[in-house]
Amino acid sequence: MKEKRGRKKNGKKNAAGKKNAAEKAVEDNVKKGMILGIGSGSTVVYAVKKIATLNKKNNLNLKCIPTSFQSYQLIVENGLELVSLDQYPNIDLDIDGADEIDKHLNLIKGGGGCLVQEKIVASNAKTLIIIADFRKDSQFLGEKWKEGVPIEVIPMAYVPIMNKIQELGGNPNLRMAQAKAGPLVTDNGNFIIDADFGIIKNPKKLNEKLKFIPGIVDTGLFIEMTSKAYIGQEDGSVVSK
Ligand code: A5P
Repeated sequence: MKEKRGRKKNGKKNAAGKKNAAEKAVEDNVKKGMILGIGSGSTVVYAVKKIATLNKKNNLNLKCIPTSFQSYQLIVENGLELVSLDQYPNIDLDIDGADEIDKHLNLIKGGGGCLVQEKIVASNAKTLIIIADFRKDSQFLGEKWKEGVPIEVIPMAYVPIMNKIQELGGNPNLRMAQAKAGPLVTDNGNFIIDADFGIIKNPKKLNEKLKFIPGIVDTGLFIEMTSKAYIGQEDGSVVSK
C-alpha cells in the first residue's frame, strides 16, 4: 500500500479516434427536445461541441445535466441549457467517456476523478452511450487500464478502506493532487483510492464486495449500464459494440 503522486493516462492521446467516436455518437443518438446527461473527461469535450453545433443549427431545445464541475463548465461555455437532476430526474440519453470497456460493455471510469456524479446520472438515463478510442477496448477490465479501479471514499475512512481492499486482493493507492500538496479532493469533497486488482474476470462481484465496505461512496466499475459504445479506430473509422 503506498501513496502515489500524480497520474499518467493510458498511453498517448488519440485525438482523431476520440473526436470521430464522439461526433458519430452525437449524430446517431441526439434528438430534438432530449434531456441529456453530459459526461466528463477529454472525449466528452468533442461530443459537447457537436451537440452545441446541432442544437443551434437545428433548434433542438436540448437540456443538459452535468456530471462534474468540468462538464458544468462545458455546458455553459458552449451555450447549452444547463438543468439539474432534481428538475429532470428522467434523462433520455447520457453520453460519457470511459477508461476501459470490456466485451460485455462493463466499464472502468473515474480516471478523471468524476465517477460518483457520472454513475448517478448514468443510472437515471434511459440510454448510456460511451465514447472512446481503441486503446480503451478490452476483453476484460484491467487488461489495458493499469491505473487501478478508481474508488471514491469518505476522507476519514481511507486507511481502513485501503486495508480492506488489500484483504480483497487489491493493491490500493491514494490518488494525490498534481498542483497541490496532499490527496486529490473530488467535486464531492472526498478522496480517490485507485485499486489495482489485475485482470478482473467478475467485475459485478468485485463491485458488490467493494460497495459493502463502509466509507466507500462508489466505485468506477459501471456494471451492465451501457447501451452502446462508439470506439474510434486508429484509421479514423468508428466501430460500435
Ligand atoms: C472521468 O472521471 C472519467 O470517468 C472519464 O469518463 C474517463 O476517465 C475517460 O476520460 P477521457 O475521455 O479523458 O479518456
